[in-house]
Amino acid sequence: MKTAIYPGSFDPITNGHLDILTRAVSIFDDVIIAVLENPSKQPLFDVATRVELITEATKHFKNLRVDSFRGLTVSYAENNKANSIIRGLRAVSDFEKELQMAQANKNLNPKIETVFLMCSIEFAFLSSSLVKEICFLGGDIKDVVPECVDKYLSRLREKRFTNDCK
Ligand code: PNS
Repeated sequence: MKTAIYPGSFDPITNGHLDILTRAVSIFDDVIIAVLENPSKQPLFDVATRVELITEATKHFKNLRVDSFRGLTVSYAENNKANSIIRGLRAVSDFEKELQMAQANKNLNPKIETVFLMCSIEFAFLSSSLVKEICFLGGDIKDVVPECVDKYLSRLREKRFTNDCK
């Protein structure tokens, strides 16, 4: 049984993440999306909301689970009997940081391999931060995020707008 984890912030999940996942579930028997609970970062969505949105957006995948974790990614992988870490690469600019993380993880646990999947060209520009910025500045994000994320972010934008008008 080949189990892989796909760790990340997913604040929120985008169609770029789904693109990587679609490929990952066809390569591995079992994939776990693992949302990092990172106390040093200030995400827009709390972990429970991120897990909920990912669960909704990925319910059509059979061999996929959604979870959250704290601490080292390699420890989470080992505890869940996963021997691969999936990471998506969008552009050369991602490479340096990803190489460093892959090497750090290899150094921590040589049994766990990082597997890079290249994102499709139409998602090369896409990031969770950009999605949030576009949405809150009034732009349309429905083509770049799952429907549940579009609805959730749009509601949040309306709420902020209503509060700002008070
Ligand atoms: O979606 P992101 O923010 O690019 O994901 C980064 C993530 C969560 C994969 C990375 O920050 C991570 O693995 N953090 C856990 C802590 C850890 O294991 N650090 C040491 C090796 S990088």
